[in-house]
This record gives sequence, structure tokens and C-alpha cells, in this order.
Amino acid sequence: MTLVEISFEPPGAAADAGFLAQATDLVNRVYADAEKGIWHEGAERTSPEELAGIVRAGELATARLGGQLVGAVRVRRLASGEGEFGMLVASPDHRGTGLGRRLVEFAEGWALDRGLATMQLELLVPREWTHPVKQFLHEWYTRIGYRPVRGGSLADDYPALAPLLATPCDFVIYHKPLSR
Ligand SMILES: CC(C)(COP(=O)(O)OP(=O)(O)OC[C@H]1O[C@@H](n2cnc3c(N)ncnc32)[C@H](O)[C@@H]1OP(=O)(O)O)[C@@H](O)C(=O)NCCC(=O)NCCS
Repeated sequence: MTLVEISFEPPGAAADAGFLAQATDLVNRVYADAEKGIWHEGAERTSPEELAGIVRAGELATARLGGQLVGAVRVRRLASGEGEFGMLVASPDHRGTGLGRRLVEFAEGWALDRGLATMQLELLVPREWTHPVKQFLHEWYTRIGYRPVRGGSLADDYPALAPLLATPCDFVIYHKPLSR
């Protein structure tokens, strides 16, 4: 059986245009579906340029199955001291196989190895309606130990994104205390 392998991309991968195109396509395809109704048509989650910066910083972990890119997550230490994961994606062809859980465990393991006490994630949610994907994520993150700690208005805190929003949105920060 072929197993999923998760590891950080080496910084040199930032110069690999083919890889950046593939990873950008995966992230944008997954988010276009997962955040349907939230953004105006044509707004994209990321770009090869943004991903190159994340790879160069050593923050992009990818999941490969038989060499094929099937998932990704950005993992970093925040200036405030928490570990954080974001841009979590699993290829639609490999959903429900434990890939998302393994990517989150990878991020938490990385933070634990660095002695970080808390893991953080940020969820974007429409203010006036329940988005089914966001509801699923809230329930899943709650099951695996994350709790909302604070929130804010996307337009107020990320003004550059405000014109791209199709509906008013808030973001909610979740924390999980880490322990082995
Ligand atoms: C979030 C995401 C990465 C999870 O990927 P995945 O490979 O399906 O993850 P898993 O197989 O580990 O499943 C995650 C949980 O969902 C549950 N689940 C998966 N598919 C399900 C289904 N069809 N029905 C009900 N529950 C399901 C699993 O049981 C698991 O819960 P558990 O850990 O309590 O057992 C994936 O759904 C995704 O790419 N979503 C879109 C992008 C996104 O919104 N990212 C998060 C931004 S904050």
C-alpha cells in the first residue's frame, strides 16, 4: 500500500515553477469550492508568488501520495508565541481518508517539538448565514480540541480584502493547548 508522506518543502522548491503552479492550483481549487459565496467571482486564495514566499520561509508542508501532491498546510510560529496552521487543504479525490487529520497532527507535532504551548487557527465565517463547510470545520476543530478565543471583522482587520468579499464576514481565532 502507498502511504501518504508529509514534510516541509525545502526552501529551494520556491524556485520550482512547476511545483508552485501545481500547489497554487490545488489551494485555489479547494478554496473556490470551500468558500463559495464568500468571495466575489475571480478572487483567489493564493498565487505562485505568495506560495514562493511561504516555501522560502520554510512554512509550507505538503502531503504526497505516490509522489503526487494531495494536500498542504502552512505552519508557522506567530510573533505572539503560538504555533499556527492555515491554508489547510486536502485534494477532493482523497477526502475523508484521514489526510486532513494527519496534516493537523503534523502541524501540532512541529509546534510541540519547538516547545510551543498553544496551536492557533483562524476560521473565516459569513456574519449573516451559516456556511456548511465552515460549520463542518467548526464541529471538526471542536472535536479535535480547538476552542474559539476571540473574533473580529474581516473588513476591519484586513481592509485590503474587504472589496473582494461578497458577503460580510468575521474571523474567529481558535486555540488548542498542546501536550503529548
Ligand atoms: C479540512 C480538510 C483539509 C479535511 O480533509 P480530509 O482529508 O477530509 O480530513 P479527514 O479525512 O481527516 O477528516 C476530517 C474529519 O471530517 C470527518 N469527515 C470526513 N469526511 C466526512 C464526511 N463525508 N461526512 C462526515 N464527516 C466527514 C472525519 O471523520 C474527520 O473527523 P474526525 O477527525 O473526528 O474523525 C478538507 O475538508 C478540505 O480541504 N477542506 C477545504 C479547505 C478548508 O476549508 N480548509 C480549512 C480552512 S480553516
